[in-house]
Amino acid sequence: MKYLITSALPYVNGTKHLGNLVGSLLPADVYARYLRAKGEDVLYICATDEHGSPTEIAAKQEGITPEALCERQYKIQLEMNKNYNLKFDYFGRSSSENNTKLVQHIAEELEKNGFIEEKVIKQFYSIDDQMFLADRFIIGTCPHCGNTSARGDQCEICTQVLDPTDLINPRSAISGSSNLELRETKHLFLAQSKLAGELEAWINKQFEWPKLVKSIALKWLKEGLQDRCITRDLSWGVPVNKPGYENKVFYVWFDAPIAYISATKDWADEDPEHRDFMDWWGAKADVRYTQFMGKDNIPFHTISFPATIIGAGNEFKQPDYIKGVNWLNYYGGKFSTSAHRGVFMNQAIELFDADYWRYALMSMIPEKDDSNFTWEDFAKAVNGDLADSYGNLVQRVCVMLKKNFEGVLPEVGANGVIEEKLIADLTEAVGDYDKNMKELEFRKATQSLHNVFMLANAYIAEKEPWKKVKEGGDRVDAALTLKTAVNIILMCAVLSSPFIPATSEKVFEAFGVQENERAWPVDVRAALDVLGAGRVIDAPGILFAKIMPERIEELKAQFGDETNAIKQKGKELHI
Ligand code: MF3
Ligand code: ZN
Repeated sequence: MKYLITSALPYVNGTKHLGNLVGSLLPADVYARYLRAKGEDVLYICATDEHGSPTEIAAKQEGITPEALCERQYKIQLEMNKNYNLKFDYFGRSSSENNTKLVQHIAEELEKNGFIEEKVIKQFYSIDDQMFLADRFIIGTCPHCGNTSARGDQCEICTQVLDPTDLINPRSAISGSSNLELRETKHLFLAQSKLAGELEAWINKQFEWPKLVKSIALKWLKEGLQDRCITRDLSWGVPVNKPGYENKVFYVWFDAPIAYISATKDWADEDPEHRDFMDWWGAKADVRYTQFMGKDNIPFHTISFPATIIGAGNEFKQPDYIKGVNWLNYYGGKFSTSAHRGVFMNQAIELFDADYWRYALMSMIPEKDDSNFTWEDFAKAVNGDLADSYGNLVQRVCVMLKKNFEGVLPEVGANGVIEEKLIADLTEAVGDYDKNMKELEFRKATQSLHNVFMLANAYIAEKEPWKKVKEGGDRVDAALTLKTAVNIILMCAVLSSPFIPATSEKVFEAFGVQENERAWPVDVRAALDVLGAGRVIDAPGILFAKIMPERIEELKAQFGDETNAIKQKGKELHI
């Protein structure tokens, strides 16, 4: 079996904050790295989500073409991917030629199968902005929960998907003008109501999906599926091949998820081994497909996109598992560029190396509920888990080995009782970690990884090799302890590589570890014997620097804290 992994496609416009990173790109990367480390055949695909009115409007405001804006933003995204060590097998673009073709193909299939309907609708035209306004550019009061700044596509407070005409007191988000006129315009609709039966049958079969994801999908089904308008009065998007639609394009939420498939085709087209993208995407392909996304994306991935695939004839694979992630807030409020609250991806990487962020964010990933980023928690993860429990262990062991055995692993005797107990304990802890990773329970996984570090520390503390290397001490036992410890460290470097890949590389390099010596530890006893007598072990240097209390205060002063929190019940804007 092969693994296909996708993370929600980041929009080209707008700066990404840490909540966006931990919501999809990072957990997907951690999962992909975990599976690769276990020797699985993995394909991790993503792309930029480039179409839609936000791009068109942003380009207009800058006085450049949407193409130019996307080109620039795509490069920025690639730079971010590199900075955070996000290792995609392919990172494409939703504006690619393959995507245009595939979107048009899927629309044709839908039409052939009788799932496309043409309707004349009334849409808001902004007289002051001189354009039809996309749903999200109309704001007003949500009829379901009373949120006074709900967007016309979806209310972010109650997650209800909306039609702009549902809003009470609508106004333009661009100019603020309420000088709007409902004008008639013709559009294509995906007949979701006709697909409800098949969709429901498919969703009901998804026993594995996490609660958050399944409950959102079921809530939608229960409310009854509305037919969905899949075209827009815009110029930037995938053209609609139909007379009378020359000035219209497909809706961005119609073309973006299709880019998961077309980006895989882009990858296959460039693949030197000429692999076929349908080996991953064919409905019957022997593939386990996992999607990652923030919770606002769940309706599109459990309802509209699957309905599209079903209606187009089930040519392509549906997801087996959907990892939905809640909001990461900043000291109980939302991240906000305008209010200067919170840390954005471009700033964060200037402050600390990627591994600090990767580990700390995954240790606070909002899996069960919304969670908070605080500098205190960040420092706790870095200082406690990374610097004390791991970095310090590596440093101590390497220094002791250098001082007493010239940095060369000595010959050792048989394991003692303590080593046997250690093997049993580590087997259990590594098993827990592996289970949590397999189940995509990342928060728990960081805790069980920390337990592995702690067992290594407890072992050294109990054996006290620093006493035994002294005159008249039991050097034979000290040798066994240090050899065992070096091998545990190697095992830790392998186990932690999905979270802190650059650190693991440093350890591999310092220990002179070959590719075939980095295998995932299936058997702990064997793993503690990978590096034997005669191996030269260098110290990798300080792996993690601690964050001192004064520094935390500085960071809070610079980026904000609870004192300027904007309380919005977990709301976070995604424009
Ligand atoms: N760009 C969207 C967001 O950031 C996600 C698109 S996911 C896809 O919320 F399925 F459409 F690709
Ligand atoms: Zn609402």
